[in-house]
Amino acid sequence: MEFECILVETKEKVGLITLNRPKALNALNDQLMNELGVALKAFEHNDTIQCIVITGSQKAFAAGADIAAMANYSFMDAYKGDYITRNWETIRQIRKPVIAAVAGYALGGGCELAMMCDFIIAADNAKFGQPEVKLGTLPGAGGTQRLPRAISKAKAMDMCLTARMMDAEEAERAGLVSRIVPADMLLEEALSAAATIASMSLPVIMMIKESVNRAYETTLSEGVHFERRLFHSSFGTEDQKEGMKAFLEKRTPEFKNQ
Ligand code: CAA
Repeated sequence: MEFECILVETKEKVGLITLNRPKALNALNDQLMNELGVALKAFEHNDTIQCIVITGSQKAFAAGADIAAMANYSFMDAYKGDYITRNWETIRQIRKPVIAAVAGYALGGGCELAMMCDFIIAADNAKFGQPEVKLGTLPGAGGTQRLPRAISKAKAMDMCLTARMMDAEEAERAGLVSRIVPADMLLEEALSAAATIASMSLPVIMMIKESVNRAYETTLSEGVHFERRLFHSSFGTEDQKEGMKAFLEKRTPEFKNQ
């Protein structure tokens, strides 16, 4: 498939997707989200890829869902047609880790897309916000649900109700982003983190992702039980044998994803 709204590259074991609608600050229209889903699924099914990075431009990761595209939608277009967010859930089906490398604006759907990734690395110029209230609507791709889980009810309410933006430092203090890097180092740092992840055992990486995500869907005791089962399962892999043997032999492990 030819892509018009994204750029797709591979860097050894890392898949890189760059959102690419610069004139609209990477506003997330149906076509872009469809292409993103196709590219993510292709990486998911590509045996050489072990980690995925999604990024935007220096000015904008994404300035939200495409306002021009949805401005005249009726309730039936939005609800029955599901035209605005129908392609947005694909990312949640991806079992390999996905890193959001965010520079500039991550607003509305852009902030929500970043939060759907497994973690966010922010450039020092990143700005996060849920400004939908200023448009007479509310976040529609998980903002009111993922923000309180990521940064507390108080800050989530503040951001969603006042539309104020959070800069990278506040976002890191609040726990929305895992690290901040200088803007001109963003891609290098994100690709380096992705390469580190990609050097590990893929099935174990997938288990870790599944287990951390379970923390958001279940009780503590059920989550710990789930983790224990996956921990036990890891002893059925050749990579666990290799990892522990390599440690004892004081050498770098050679994982085979088995
Ligand atoms: N949708 C469509 N086009 C957008 C856009 C969006 N979300 N954000 C920016 N653009 C377009 C602008 O219309 C403008 O296009 P033209 O040059 O053709 O006029 C171009 O991108 C550049 O934008 P600005 O001139 O506004 O740039 P700026 O530097 O002055 O401001 C900004 C940057 C603060 C990000 C501002 O563009 C802005 O506020 N954008 C809208 C942010 C927003 O409200 N996002 C939420 C969308 S709703 C949503 O996401 C719902 C959901 O949860 C799924």
